[in-house]
Amino acid sequence: MGEPILEIHDLSKTFVLANKEQLTACDQLSFSVNKGETVGIVGESGSGKSTLVNMLMLMEPPTSGKILYRGKNILQLEHKAIWKLRPAIQMVFQSPMASINPRMKVIDVITEPLFNYKRLQSKDKKAKARELLEMVELSEEYADRYAHQLSGGQCQRVSIARALALQPEILICDEATSALDVSVQKNIVDLLIKLQKQTRMTILFISHDLALVQSFAHKLLVMQRGKIVDCLEEEQSLDTSKVAYTKTLLNSVYSLTKVRKQRLADGH
Ligand SMILES: Nc1ncnc2c1ncn2[C@@H]1O[C@H](COP(=O)(O)OP(=O)(O)OP(=O)(O)O)[C@@H](O)[C@H]1O
Ligand SMILES: [Mg+2]
Repeated sequence: MGEPILEIHDLSKTFVLANKEQLTACDQLSFSVNKGETVGIVGESGSGKSTLVNMLMLMEPPTSGKILYRGKNILQLEHKAIWKLRPAIQMVFQSPMASINPRMKVIDVITEPLFNYKRLQSKDKKAKARELLEMVELSEEYADRYAHQLSGGQCQRVSIARALALQPEILICDEATSALDVSVQKNIVDLLIKLQKQTRMTILFISHDLALVQSFAHKLLVMQRGKIVDCLEEEQSLDTSKVAYTKTLLNSVYSLTKVRKQRLADGH
């Protein structure tokens, strides 16, 4: 598949804690992402996934390393160039409710980025909102609602519509479906797959749910304690991974299934 759109070289982040101790949340991460590809990043809690995402979004400065977007190191960009770059890399957060301004109607939430970047005129606002809602499979009647009048799944669709308004090349989803129940999770993943086919956007999907990510990612990176310990391509079955940690993650998925089966068998 296509040319690399994102290349990460030796990216590290070390936090200095209150007691002056150092914590290396990301340790010399290197990987690349091709255009139109879905890359899943999995790992246990605290393995450094969100720290990585925050660096990619330029919300957290790395301690060292490079982030190349279309061959250019975005860590060296000036303020104005960063502003210009922002539309290209957008993000959907874990908590749908928390990421939407409770005092704004859906129509304003999803069109705001377009007004910020002067890509929309007030007279076209309604039509654009309708188009964005349609893209995430919500009818136009949702335009006048507030976040508290939406279900978790609908809220996450609104977040996706907002993130897609500026037609990003890269969409980063950090645990974007974790707060949703399983069937809604699947609907959102199906929506992302559909949108990716339509727009050829690149998706980085961060999750602790190995089974979910594996079901649709082209490439899977496994993180443990700040390091990438495994990288699996789509055609490679997880069962064949030689990395012990991937096997452990896999076993925990299986053992959960076992627990559930046992519960059902026990009748509770
Ligand atoms: N601002 C910070 N200051 C100090 N330590 C931090 C900071 N942000 C993250 N950390 C630490 O860095 C490590 C990685 O955290 P991170 O949030 O990246 O993990 P994660 O893989 O996203 O976990 P989760 O699955 O729970 O979201 C953790 O040990 C965390 O405590
Ligand atoms: Mg996280």
